[in-house]
Amino acid sequence: MPGFWLAFVFHFVFCHCQYKYGPERAWNLRSVAELKSKEFWFHDAQRTLYEKLSTPPNQYVAKNVIMFLGDGMSVPTVTASRIFDGQLRGVVGERNRLEFEKFNFVGLSKTYCANKQVADSACTASAYLSGIKANYLTIGVTPDVQLNDCAGARLPQNRLSSLAAWALKGRKSAGVVTTTRVTHASPAGVYAHTSNRDFESDFDVNSFGENASKCPDIAQQLIDGDVGQRLRVILGGGTSKFLPNTQKDVYGNPGQRLDGRNLIEEWQRSKPGNARVVFNRTDLLANDARSTDFLFGLFNASHMAYHLDDSIDTPTLSEMTESAINILSRDHGGYFLFVEGGRIDHAHHETKAKKALDETVQFSNAIKKARLLTNPWDTLIVVTADHGHTVTISGYPDVNNSIAGLNSELSDVDSKPYATLSYANGPDYQKFYQSKDGVVERVNLTTSNIGDKDARYPHGVPMTEETHGGGDVAVYAHGPWAHLFTGVYEQNTIPFMMGYASCLGPGITYCDLQPKVSYNP
Ligand SMILES: *[C@@H]1O[C@H](CO)[C@@H](O)[C@H](O)[C@H]1NC(C)=O
Ligand SMILES: *[C@@H]1O[C@H](CO)[C@@H](O)[C@H](O)[C@H]1NC(C)=O
Ligand SMILES: *[C@@H]1O[C@H](CO)[C@@H](O)[C@H](O)[C@H]1NC(C)=O
Ligand SMILES: *[C@@H]1O[C@H](CO)[C@@H](O)[C@H](O)[C@H]1NC(C)=O
Ligand SMILES: *[C@@H]1O[C@H](CO)[C@@H](O)[C@H](O)[C@H]1NC(C)=O
Ligand SMILES: [Zn+2]
Repeated sequence: MPGFWLAFVFHFVFCHCQYKYGPERAWNLRSVAELKSKEFWFHDAQRTLYEKLSTPPNQYVAKNVIMFLGDGMSVPTVTASRIFDGQLRGVVGERNRLEFEKFNFVGLSKTYCANKQVADSACTASAYLSGIKANYLTIGVTPDVQLNDCAGARLPQNRLSSLAAWALKGRKSAGVVTTTRVTHASPAGVYAHTSNRDFESDFDVNSFGENASKCPDIAQQLIDGDVGQRLRVILGGGTSKFLPNTQKDVYGNPGQRLDGRNLIEEWQRSKPGNARVVFNRTDLLANDARSTDFLFGLFNASHMAYHLDDSIDTPTLSEMTESAINILSRDHGGYFLFVEGGRIDHAHHETKAKKALDETVQFSNAIKKARLLTNPWDTLIVVTADHGHTVTISGYPDVNNSIAGLNSELSDVDSKPYATLSYANGPDYQKFYQSKDGVVERVNLTTSNIGDKDARYPHGVPMTEETHGGGDVAVYAHGPWAHLFTGVYEQNTIPFMMGYASCLGPGITYCDLQPKVSYNP
């Protein structure tokens, strides 16, 4: 291992950098003055190089795999969120690192789907969980299934199996955690097969003019499906999809189901062992993982509230992640856990950039918690996004200019201020452009609410909601075989790399080096 010894020598030659700009000081700079120091940049680069040279590849088998999915977490979203987080903490935001930016191995994932250049959360879930790219708006089915093709989605040869199914087959436990409804597209990729992501309840299936008894809804698949019924932990929002329209949940919100089934009660009754249901943070934190075999937590009638908004006794993503790991790690054979920061995407669709950044910081906090609770020698953590968004960081703002605020520069055409963050398209077009003497001009943003949690950010093309972006997204990996995740690759390679590391699934694995030629889970 010559690299290691070289690094050892570096350590002494540049020990100055170790003590003067040790990691704590280097990443948490208190003053922008250091950015103007030649010495700072030299030692900073040497330290980073030293860290790279002293990182041997981890080639153990991954007993546990945790996949963190930041929905819509484009690369500019990550950049802006790290600056946002640093500025809140009073350090130089540009230097700050989110938890997953500390990982040594990063790659780029190409997110387009079988029939769309710019993808949605459904077709991408099939790619990053089941290893096959699918059609826009479909989940867990091959690209032979077209939108709303209920019969096609039921054919066994058209159904894909996710990493959760591979883990269960490999005698591991599996769980799912999200801030959206647990029946929303990304979490549904773990356990469902459907020709339309909007088939969340039988009411939804009916409203598309389809027969629900021939087209099982996603909530029902979570309770009855091969994978769904075996999930040990399910945490998120969405009581309305599980309760009949004659019943209300603990918050007083009515259910949606037409079939009269109370799927929450059915779930609890059907479980062997100790199955617990919780509806608020108090009950989640009071729950004892040591005596819990199965846990179902639903914290809102629909999506969980944004972290920046008021809500009733709602757990954070970090708290849900902790509960899930505490329960899943009771399985000595290991586990697969899927954790989604699902509302980064929703905030972007509303062009509420500040909320998108805050949700990304929450997502990063959950990853920090997972790292504290697991061992990098036996747990692979993969962090990525399903698709990008149209948000950009633009202009030439000064260092330490508030990232969610107005740019320190004015437009050199109309001399009006603009926001550093803006979108290619979005709603509320008239808020940013006005017609004066027959000429369309930009509104003067000086007195706008830019910087508020609910401020919409400026954008170009008017749309009902801001759209996804088609740029590649980053994949950050830590733990066994994390070095496989470098390079630029198709999104559907991701589950096969996780499967290789953990000896799961239909592709080649670390335990079985015989090449397998067909996808046959
Ligand atoms: C960044 O700017 C803010 C607001 O102007 C200021 O309070 C803060 O001290 C600056 N931070 C650094 C690290 O210079
Ligand atoms: C839906 O399908 C079921 C089972 O095939 C059938 O019994 C029922 O009549 C169908 N309902 C409608 C409204 O077509
Ligand atoms: C939490 O939910 C339980 C029902 O599951 C309820 O009894 C309790 O009052 C709730 N706690 C709070 C603080 O709302
Ligand atoms: C559910 O979410 C809505 C919208 O964000 C929020 O207003 C409400 O307070 C939340 N409900 C609970 C029980 O937290
Ligand atoms: C924008 O508004 C501010 C505050 O009202 C004003 O000082 C500035 O001159 C305006 N800019 C333009 C180009 O009208
Ligand atoms: Zn979206």
